[in-house]
Amino acid sequence: MRTSRYAVIGCGNMGSAMAAGLVRGGVSPDALSLADAGTPVLPEPLVGCAVGHDNAAAVSSADTVLVAVKPYLAEAVLSGIAPALRPGALLINVAAGVTVEQSRAALVGAPGGVDVVRAMPNLAAALGEGTVAVAGETPAGAARALEALAPLGLIAELPETLFPAVSALSGCGIAHALRFLRAGVTAGVAMGLRADMAAALFAQTMRGAAAMVAAGEHPEAAIDRVCTPAGLTVRGICELEANGFTGAVVKGLRACCIGR
Ligand SMILES: NC(=O)c1ccc[n+]([C@@H]2O[C@H](COP(=O)([O-])OP(=O)(O)OC[C@H]3O[C@@H](n4cnc5c(N)ncnc54)[C@H](OP(=O)(O)O)[C@@H]3O)[C@@H](O)[C@H]2O)c1
Repeated sequence: MRTSRYAVIGCGNMGSAMAAGLVRGGVSPDALSLADAGTPVLPEPLVGCAVGHDNAAAVSSADTVLVAVKPYLAEAVLSGIAPALRPGALLINVAAGVTVEQSRAALVGAPGGVDVVRAMPNLAAALGEGTVAVAGETPAGAARALEALAPLGLIAELPETLFPAVSALSGCGIAHALRFLRAGVTAGVAMGLRADMAAALFAQTMRGAAAMVAAGEHPEAAIDRVCTPAGLTVRGICELEANGFTGAVVKGLRACCIGR
C-alpha cells in the first residue's frame, strides 16, 4: 500500500483514468482527493469516492497533485491552487501542449520546493497498462514523478521536444491499435467466427505480440520466426504491404503529431 497522498484536479476521461490506475496499483481511495467542476461518472475502482468542487481544498493535504483539465483551463486552475499547495509538493500537469515553463509561470504564490512536471499519459493508465512520458523542471522532480506514477504502467522520462511524438504514438496510437483490432475482428467474422470470439482471440494475439516485444524480442526477428518460408503468414504480410500497410500506419501516426 502506498502512503503518499494524491489529489486529482479534473476527473474527466484522463483524470479518472489516472486515479483508477493509482487505486488499482495500491493507493488507498482514502489517500485520494478528487476535485472537478462537475459531477463526473467515475470508473469501477473509484465508484463511491467523493468528488469535491474545491480545488484548493483538495490539494492542501496532497504530496502529489495531478492536474487533468483541458489545456485552455490549465493556467487558471494552476493559479487557483498555487497558494494552497503544500511546500515540497509534486505537481504533475497532463494538459497536452502546456510546457513545464508555462505551468511554473502559472503557479504564482506557490510555496517553496514545489516540483513541476509535465506528463503525457494515455487512457490505459486506468488498468495499469498505460504509458506516461514525464519531463521535469529538475531531474529530482522527474524522478519523483517516475515513482509517483509507477502504478499506471510504463513511465518514461523524455525531453519535452519529444512530447508531440509521444502524444501521437501513445495517446492517439491507442485508437489506431483499436482500429487494427476492429479490422481483425471483421476478418474473423468474415471467416466464420462470432464477433465476440474473434475480438477475444485477436485482442489476446495483440497482447501476446506486445508481451514478446516487452520481453526484448525485436519485432522483425519475431515475424521471421512466425513466417514459414513460402507459408501462409508471409503470404498475408505480402498482401498487407501490397496494400500499403506500413506506409498507412506511419502516415496515420505522423498525422497526429504537430509539426511532423
Ligand atoms: N483523454 C486523453 O486520452 C488524454 C491523453 C493525454 C492527455 N490528456 C490531457 O488530459 C486533460 C484532460 O483531458 P480529458 O480528455 O480528461 O478531458 P475531460 O474529459 O473534459 O476532463 C476534464 C475534466 O475537468 C473538469 N474541469 C473543468 N474545469 C475545471 C476546474 N476549473 N476545476 C476542476 N475541474 C475542472 C471538467 O468538468 P466539466 O466537464 O464539468 O467541465 C472535466 O470533468 C487535457 O488537458 C488533455 O490534453 C488527455
